[in-house]
Amino acid sequence: MPAIINPMDLSGRHILVTGASAGIGRATAILAAKLGARVTITGRDQDRLAATLADLPGDGHRADAFDLSAIDAIPAWMKAAAQANGPFHGLAHCAGIQTLRPIRIFQADFFDEVMRTNLGASLALAKGLRQKGVKADRASLVYISSTAATASSPANVVYAAAKGGIIAATKGLSAELLPDAIRVNCVVPSIVMTELIERGFEKLNADQIAHLEKLQPLGFGHPDDVANAICFLISDAGRWITGTSMVVDGGRTA
Ligand SMILES: NC(=O)c1ccc[n+]([C@@H]2O[C@H](COP(=O)([O-])OP(=O)(O)OC[C@H]3O[C@@H](n4cnc5c(N)ncnc54)[C@H](OP(=O)(O)O)[C@@H]3O)[C@@H](O)[C@H]2O)c1
Repeated sequence: MPAIINPMDLSGRHILVTGASAGIGRATAILAAKLGARVTITGRDQDRLAATLADLPGDGHRADAFDLSAIDAIPAWMKAAAQANGPFHGLAHCAGIQTLRPIRIFQADFFDEVMRTNLGASLALAKGLRQKGVKADRASLVYISSTAATASSPANVVYAAAKGGIIAATKGLSAELLPDAIRVNCVVPSIVMTELIERGFEKLNADQIAHLEKLQPLGFGHPDDVANAICFLISDAGRWITGTSMVVDGGRTA
């Protein structure tokens, strides 16, 4: 019988997954571990991180709570994480926040919070990954943007602008980090059923939710739908891909 080859095999790889205490990050950490990776997971909530850690198959995983809004502290935190568990072959940046807020109540502190956590942290993670000893010989960095940035998303424009920034950063960083042998890509999901969306849906009525569902011909997504794309881009199956925004949106923007 021929040997079975899995092009997404992550055996021997060490992957950092942010936002791993919930939703897409949690699904990504579990899939990466199932594919054979050693995973370092992060988020702020220690209990929820411990719950994810307990669900990771295999050995050598580690939970390391950190608040990514402290963007200037990110590179040093990553250096310490790499010293503790080895350099990273991949980074899936799944942490993010979204609060719907119409522009008529736009304020500087809201702008700072949304931009800092969604876009500022993304850029600081890229800075941190390229440090000596933090990345393996070759590494893959995967961000999460959103169709909020590519299809109109009313009352959500600050988040949409941050996620548009991630698409722009993916392009620029993919060229800037070529000499560091870091591939940079992002995935662009539409609505995936996670706590982030459940919180947003609390403000909507049944008709509004039904309207949102109709916008996606394949229905609302599951966290695994996005985790599959992220792990593809992290693995050697994506070794010839950099600077790409991969749309994973149930047909929302088809
Ligand atoms: N769900 C969707 O429909 C959808 C669509 C498009 C894009 N996205 C993007 O996909 C990513 C994941 O979303 P999700 O739906 O999985 O969200 P989620 O269920 O709300 O999970 C968000 C994660 O981010 C972490 N996080 C938030 N702020 C943080 C901070 N300051 N420091 C460290 N960790 C922080 C949370 O951990 P703690 O609470 O433990 O800190 C949690 O693990 C986000 O970037 C989101 O914008 C989601």
